[in-house]
Amino acid sequence: MSTESRIRCPKLRQRIMSAEDAAALIPSGVNVGMSGFTGAGYPKAVPGALAEHIRAARARDENFRISVWTGASTAPELDGALAEVDGIQMRLPYQSDPLCRQKINDGQMEYMDIHLSHVAQHAWSGFYGKLDIAVIEVVGVTEDGRLIPSSSVGNNKTWIDQADKVILEVNQGQSAGLEGMHDIYYGTALPPRRKPIPLTRPEERFGEKYLMCPPEKVIAVVETNAPDRNSRFSPPDENSQRIANHLLEFFAHEVEAKRLPPELLPLQSGVGNIANAVMAGLNEGPFNNLTAFTEVLQDGMLAMLKSGKLAKASATAFSLSPEANEELAKNIDFYRDRIVLRAQEISNHPEVIRRLGVIALNGMIEADIYGNVNSTHVMASRIMNGIGGSGDFARNGYLSVFMTPSTAKDGSISTIVPMVSHVDHTEHDVQIVVTEQGLADLRGLPPRQRALNIIENCAHPDFRPQLRDYFERACNSKRGMHTPHLLDEALSWHHRYETCGHM
Ligand code: COA
Repeated sequence: MSTESRIRCPKLRQRIMSAEDAAALIPSGVNVGMSGFTGAGYPKAVPGALAEHIRAARARDENFRISVWTGASTAPELDGALAEVDGIQMRLPYQSDPLCRQKINDGQMEYMDIHLSHVAQHAWSGFYGKLDIAVIEVVGVTEDGRLIPSSSVGNNKTWIDQADKVILEVNQGQSAGLEGMHDIYYGTALPPRRKPIPLTRPEERFGEKYLMCPPEKVIAVVETNAPDRNSRFSPPDENSQRIANHLLEFFAHEVEAKRLPPELLPLQSGVGNIANAVMAGLNEGPFNNLTAFTEVLQDGMLAMLKSGKLAKASATAFSLSPEANEELAKNIDFYRDRIVLRAQEISNHPEVIRRLGVIALNGMIEADIYGNVNSTHVMASRIMNGIGGSGDFARNGYLSVFMTPSTAKDGSISTIVPMVSHVDHTEHDVQIVVTEQGLADLRGLPPRQRALNIIENCAHPDFRPQLRDYFERACNSKRGMHTPHLLDEALSWHHRYETCGHM
């Protein structure tokens, strides 16, 4: 495809330059809002070129750092490249890059881990300071300068609105057929001027197909031709399959009890292999005419759309393997009729999630016997990725499900512990815990019954006697019978792992 067909606005064609020249327009010390969500739709060329500028500045003994705000995780070309040259002062609101993770945990990079639905409104309110520059990947530009969004929307609308200057990357590698798939709502506001979000079904559209950006804000246009990160999923392993089976059985039971309709309720599915296995299970399962109101659309949901099991899906981003991405591009007209991509302040909006009655399915690091969940930290202090959208969906969903294998690191860690070493989702926000061992339905249960249910259904048999022993002794201690704990032992499992290599 030619430059003219992708960048149809003559005014913006005049701003075309190399990634190196565009990166040179980003000075040290600024806040930069970049596109990108779960490895989709992130800028492919400017961050790398900026990293080279930073490397050169470091060689001259100059300190050069920027703060990077995104939708969610990006890819090695962005987070990895900038982290490698120590170019990031502060990162928000979510990352999953190994190098970033290391720098954050070594104390060399600041990180703010934020509910994804909160980020835009925090930025509008100025909580993070002034946004100086936005670097946004788009599929193209219309004749009148409207921007065709790419494979993720994330916070792009907010970054473009809030930034003084905008750098666009126009990626020929993204399917031109994405045009028309997006729904960008410009009706959000800060209190007290807020209006209800007019969405009552996942597939409803009430916004624009394009991102709006005054052409005078655009200081550079960079042409790229590169794929998204497009990570492969491993085929579902035995544990993931068992978790998926427990969930499917539970859904069937809920339909029978008339607590769920036969087509279930809109599904939200977290990222990763377990989530993908659950979708694969649903694709084979008895439920039809399903819908999704989620933030990320992975291979599993694409396959369900293709098979017809899933009728419609709303998300803010794709996160596809190379094969699934090819399938999407090949049959883009089919998928455009069935998928809506929205800004993350809408895809994760608590009001909408509550109204639709979303079934929230998310992974976790560990849960404790009372059902508090840690999604983000290893052994209390080391960040893994971040809370992402799990809190938006867990607190506001109709059903809030957390899933994990019952052990980690070859069986040396129990993911069911007396007390979580970090809390992301409190016991009040967690209704169902699932491991390959079984499913604990905590709805309507007071704390001590929750504990017995989680220990007996979810813990690995190797750790179950230890957990029973802890719980019984905590109850016998008579310190307080509502949520019994032994204060000197509650976190001893984590301490034991750090000192002995085994819980
Ligand atoms: N203690 C220590 N390490 C643990 C652990 C525990 N209790 N549980 C898992 N881990 C480790 C695993 O060993 C693995 O390590 P490795 O990368 O060195 O192999 C890593 O954590 C990831 O675990 P895995 O079992 O592969 O799970 P996953 O890919 O499903 O990810 C989360 C699990 C919790 C990290 C992931 O779901 C997440 O980041 N969640 C928060 C964001 C979110 O929920 N978003 C949802 C909306 S999109």
